[in-house]
Amino acid sequence: MLQKFDTRNENLYIFVNGQILPRNEAKISVFDSVVQGGDAVWEGLRLYKSGIALLDRHLDRLQESAKALMFEHVLTTEEIKNAIRMTLEKNNMTEDVHIRLTFTRGEKITSGMDPRLNNKGCGLIVLAEWKPPVYDNENGIKIISSAIRRNSPQFLDSKIHHNNLLNNILAKIQANVAGKDAALMLDDRGFVAELNDTNIFMIKNGRLSTPHATACLPGITRDFIIEISKNHGLECEVRDISLTELYNADEVFCTGTMGELTPINEIDGRSIVNTSSTNIMKIINSLFREKISAYCSMP
Ligand SMILES: Cc1ncc(COP(=O)(O)O)c(C=O)c1O
Repeated sequence: MLQKFDTRNENLYIFVNGQILPRNEAKISVFDSVVQGGDAVWEGLRLYKSGIALLDRHLDRLQESAKALMFEHVLTTEEIKNAIRMTLEKNNMTEDVHIRLTFTRGEKITSGMDPRLNNKGCGLIVLAEWKPPVYDNENGIKIISSAIRRNSPQFLDSKIHHNNLLNNILAKIQANVAGKDAALMLDDRGFVAELNDTNIFMIKNGRLSTPHATACLPGITRDFIIEISKNHGLECEVRDISLTELYNADEVFCTGTMGELTPINEIDGRSIVNTSSTNIMKIINSLFREKISAYCSMP
C-alpha cells in the first residue's frame, strides 16, 4: 500500500540550517555530506495531542549516532528542540504529525568522502508533515522475507541510525515487486532481524519475543513495548528467532514511530493463524494507547 498524499503537505514550512522556508524553497547544498555520501543521521518523531512521543529518547539516539560517526560542531539537544518547536509553530501543527529530523555532517568545501573537507559544522533539516500511521493497523499487512541482509556490526552497526538506507530500500523493492507491504530482513546468520522499516515481535503459547538488537535498529517503540509489557507482567524474551518460528507463531506484529503497532497476517505466503484463545497483541496495543501520552513532551 502506497502512503496517501495529504494535500495540507503542499504548503509546508521546513527548517533547513537555521531558516524556515516554504516547501519549494527548502533546499540543501549539492556539497552537503548527505548528498555526497549519505553521511547523515536521522530520527522519525510522532506528534500527539500531548506532545512528541519519547522525544528525549529519540534525541539521545540522534546524538549517539552523530558521536559514532564523529560529527563535529554538533548542535545541542536544546538547539534541536528549538528548531522542532519553531517548525511546528510555523505550520500550526498540534497532532497527527510525523517529523523527519535529518542531521548531516554538513557542507563540504569540495566533493569527496573525507570528513576533513567539512568546515561549516553540521546541518539540520526538520521536516514535519501531516501523516497518520502509515500501515493498516486494523487489517494488518503481508510481508515477504528478503534476500538482502540487515547489517551486523561487522559491516555497519545498525545501532547507528544513519542515512545509508540502500539495503533496506533494496529489500523494500523486493516486497513491492512481490506485491507485499514490507520486507522482512534476516541477519548475516539467517536469523530474523527486522522489517525494512520497523521492528518485529512474535507471540507463541502466550510468550512474547523479539530478536536481539544486534542486526536491527534498537527501536524506541520496540523498547517501549518491551517496557510496558514487562510492567503488565508479560516479560519479552529477546532471542534469536528463525523464519520457521515466525511462520508458526500465533501472532506477529511490527512496531515503529511511523506506523505504531501493526499486525502481520502473512509471511512468505504462510498465513499467521492464532490457534490460542488469547489476543495478546490487542492487549499490548491497548497498553500502548493508554500509556503513550504520559511519555509525550513538547520540545
Ligand atoms: C530500519 C528501522 N527499523 C525500525 C524502526 C523503528 O524505530 P522507532 O521505533 O525508533 O521509530 C525504524 C525507524 O526509523 C527503522 O528505520
